[in-house]
Amino acid sequence: MTHSEESFKKIIAHAKEYGYIFPSSEIYDGLSAVYDYGPYGCELKNNIKDYWWKSMVRMHENIVGIDSAIFMHPTVWKASGHVDAFNDPLIDNKDSKKRYRADVLIEDYIQKIEDKIDKEVQKAAKRFDNFDESMYRQTNARVLGYQQKIDEIQSRFVSCMEKSDWEALKDLIDELGISCPVSGSKNWTEVRQFNLMFATQMGSVADGADTVYLRPETAQGIFVNFLNVQKTSRMKIPFGIAQIGKAFRNEIVARQFIFRMKEFEQMEMQFFVRPGEEIQWFEYWKSERIRWHESLGIEKAFFRFRDHEKMAHYANAATDIEFKFPFGFRELEGIHSRTDFDLKSHQQTSGKKLQYFDPETNESYVPYVVETSIGLDRMFLAIFSYAYTEETLEDNTVRTVLKIPPILAPVKLAILPLVRKDGMPEKAKEILKDLQYSFLCQYDEKDAIGRRYRRQDAIGTPYCVTVDNQTLEDNTVTIRERDSMKQERIAIENIENYLNTLLKIKI
Ligand code: GAP
Repeated sequence: MTHSEESFKKIIAHAKEYGYIFPSSEIYDGLSAVYDYGPYGCELKNNIKDYWWKSMVRMHENIVGIDSAIFMHPTVWKASGHVDAFNDPLIDNKDSKKRYRADVLIEDYIQKIEDKIDKEVQKAAKRFDNFDESMYRQTNARVLGYQQKIDEIQSRFVSCMEKSDWEALKDLIDELGISCPVSGSKNWTEVRQFNLMFATQMGSVADGADTVYLRPETAQGIFVNFLNVQKTSRMKIPFGIAQIGKAFRNEIVARQFIFRMKEFEQMEMQFFVRPGEEIQWFEYWKSERIRWHESLGIEKAFFRFRDHEKMAHYANAATDIEFKFPFGFRELEGIHSRTDFDLKSHQQTSGKKLQYFDPETNESYVPYVVETSIGLDRMFLAIFSYAYTEETLEDNTVRTVLKIPPILAPVKLAILPLVRKDGMPEKAKEILKDLQYSFLCQYDEKDAIGRRYRRQDAIGTPYCVTVDNQTLEDNTVTIRERDSMKQERIAIENIENYLNTLLKIKI
């Protein structure tokens, strides 16, 4: 097992042990690629949603939110192209009988070459002091060679995907000599396409039930409501509509924990603009969204943009914000300039005008759209995996701490009586009562204070207040900060202000 595989396993185990994420229906051995969020998990998820919603909707006067239904008229998915073209290419290994996504096999192959580049760079950094010119040239040549190989594979891969040319994709897998991780064999079937939408029946079958779909993205609920929202909220272009909600995709290959799920949540925003102004707004949203990620205090090196070289037929600019997950850089958020494709297609299919009358130009037109789309669960995984830290302390013990940005942390404050006597529990409960409406607080009196601090570290609580003998005399407490473990004394009456200041964030 590689170092990163091992640390990813620890992260998954920690998420379960501390009530963040459980496998769905675990007592029945789970359900592939479906997960439940536990008490701390649902708090973290709600805090991420709240942070996104506030920064998108509350901080922009020209963005409003909606909550559209998961079920939509089945023709929506015909018009959007999902019925005909929302497919994954699947391939089976004839020996292991295991099924894979052909595109993911190639992505993993590319990741392995990227890992080799990382290793070369790390090796060079270690030998920095006696790194002579010939070593430099050799390293450089190897890195360039790897990069060239990646570029060649990427360009063929993108072309296969764009054209849905599954024969060429199978040729690429054969040529690269990709083998099945289970059997080790290269005995593959042809690549077949598989539609990702879940279908179900609405109405009784006897009455001639209609096939309806569980929405595979939240965006279409925004497009079909475009005029309803524009008129009722009296929005003028440019303006946006935001939505957070569940999406469903029949992902056949369960991988990487909550990175690829069958039931997940998206936080999407469609920004409607004048035709011709979409590229400038695309650039605007690119920089806004990366600023949002960086505002949470995650190192910049953990993010990168991956601009799409070849665009889908409806897009004229597209980029992914990739995050360095424990298994490598992968897509976290997509930003797309989708032209007028979706609105036009719905206009044509429904026969209803989806046009905006622009009072400034006295013209009616179908607006262009710039979309930002982030997976809530992927954002959760990014935050959680970045936060998970094992630290060796001065006394050689190891503490496991979740360094979750305080604004997102599930429990903001733990209130701990130093001992279970002398009126300390009563005093601590008074503080709890005072603060629990404003912040999610936790009262804990069991075990020695050191163990209680460790428990709070492990769930990521940024602040712990301890009630001790001095508290009973002068109404002050110690407040301990999770990451530095530093403590200071403050008056009980100042705790709320103190936390409000620390939890404030400039979006
Ligand atoms: N409306 C555009 C759209 O849905 P997408 O790239 O298919 O675009 C957007 O999805 C985001 O949704 C991705 O960047 C990712 O964060 C998240 N996402 C997509 N499929 C997912 C899955 N199976 N499990 C978890 N998150 C997923």
